[in-house]
Amino acid sequence: MDWQNRPRCDEAPAWQALDSHFTAHFTGDHAFDLRRAFAQDPDRAQDFGIEAPHLFVDLSRNLIDRQARTLLVQLARECGLAEHRDALLAGAHVNNTEDRPALHPLLRWPAGTPQPTERLKEIHASSLSGLDEMLSSAEQIRLEKRYDDVVHIGIGGSDLGPRLALQALAPQVLPDAPRLHFVANMDGHELAAVLRGLKPERTLFIVASKSFGTAETLRNATSARAWFEAQGGTDLAAHFVALTARPDAAREFGVGRCFAFDDGVGGRTSLWSVIGLPVAVAIGRAGFEALLAGAHAMDRHFAEAPLEANLPVQLGLLDVWYRNFHRFGSRCVVPYHHGLRSLAFYLQQLEMESNGKRVDAHGRPLPFDTAPVVWGAVGSNAQHAFFQMLHQGTQVVPVEFIAVREPAHTLEGHQPRLLANALAQARALMLGHVADDAHRHFPGNRPSTFLLLERLDAASFGALIALNEHRVFTSGSLWGLNSFDQWGVELGKRHAGAVETGLASGRTEGLDAATAGLVRRLSC
Ligand code: F6P
Repeated sequence: MDWQNRPRCDEAPAWQALDSHFTAHFTGDHAFDLRRAFAQDPDRAQDFGIEAPHLFVDLSRNLIDRQARTLLVQLARECGLAEHRDALLAGAHVNNTEDRPALHPLLRWPAGTPQPTERLKEIHASSLSGLDEMLSSAEQIRLEKRYDDVVHIGIGGSDLGPRLALQALAPQVLPDAPRLHFVANMDGHELAAVLRGLKPERTLFIVASKSFGTAETLRNATSARAWFEAQGGTDLAAHFVALTARPDAAREFGVGRCFAFDDGVGGRTSLWSVIGLPVAVAIGRAGFEALLAGAHAMDRHFAEAPLEANLPVQLGLLDVWYRNFHRFGSRCVVPYHHGLRSLAFYLQQLEMESNGKRVDAHGRPLPFDTAPVVWGAVGSNAQHAFFQMLHQGTQVVPVEFIAVREPAHTLEGHQPRLLANALAQARALMLGHVADDAHRHFPGNRPSTFLLLERLDAASFGALIALNEHRVFTSGSLWGLNSFDQWGVELGKRHAGAVETGLASGRTEGLDAATAGLVRRLSC
């Protein structure tokens, strides 16, 4: 099948079959019930478990039966998912509205991997040499000890990945690494708090922006430069480096070193590129290479495992099943590991910027829903915040638990209790509790997925993130989307310019009445 003319999910025969199956088995008085499903099928837990590199996932507590799973795989086949995936991995221009490839998997290919085209061979060679240069500089930055503090300035994909990676891999940070700080928000409180106490002569600023045109990043970088100069800093070029696909713009700003990456690497999947510099400074070359290897192992699994046992595919298909048949509006992610406390923020951008679309890749309006709201927080804290709603609220929200077997600390008594809590919550959501008192009654039959990592290290973290990239690709592919553009973020940026002018001058011509009223209040 030609990947460019593959059918959209609602045009495939399996879509109708899924609809009928859903109506017959998941609605009405005899609707599917997890407790009954387990009672009737002793192999369910085993049958719905999938092993993938660095991860085991138990999907058995989801509102899905074997027939729906079979039909979803059939849907994937009819929609040319495998052909689309192969096109992605072969560097085809899957990002059709910007006429470019999505190169993040290529960044993880080890040297010597045969490439399908000459062009891809060139891109791979140049990305490997760019990465190698970045990794050598990261080692130098750490070993030279010229800087006590490194401030990474970026936003969205130029911030979320490195920030999360450093939280996740905190125990692997090398003892001689400088202190690392992140600044993303245009709100000056963030930068001001970071700058407090820094010495200009001992600080390195990393300005990370694919476009080198993002308002927040340029504002923060400009303020950092002004601070540096006002504090008596000299040799700007030695204290500002850039990570960008627009080295010309970065040089104009005045940075010294410029680490470039290809325009075909999407912002929200750029962790694997030179954008990972702060991560490489902290965990070293070997650590960063392990991160890439973990992600690459997941790429291979995605490329090679049969669809039935392919974890990103199965998660993406479940997302379609939940969004379009069960009509669940959100998915909650709860990692039981402090290092993954920002995972939900990362996944929010990955899923909602990729698949939060209302037209397909050909511009046709969609008659079905796309990206759910992705939200969540770290367990066990989340149990004392929103789990009440998950257990007894009016909406059913599929929960994704992530647990890590081996902790990186040696404190006694924490880990067994933490794991018990994660398992207990999944169990309670499913089993519920019958009580005469309505307030104490739990309906149960609430779905969850359980992801298990042996330990949280660079390789397993890489695999976890790549898993989510491919899962978002899978659902986006079935929905017929271009998951690699983000036109929806542009309009607000355009309005911000006009409003800023209004705020500075107090003039409100051309503004709508609501904005004008607020501008008048704020500019007096
Ligand atoms: O506005 C959204 C966005 O374009 C994201 O896609 C991107 O990750 C982020 O802004 C930052 O962009 P840049 O790296 O070009 O500064």
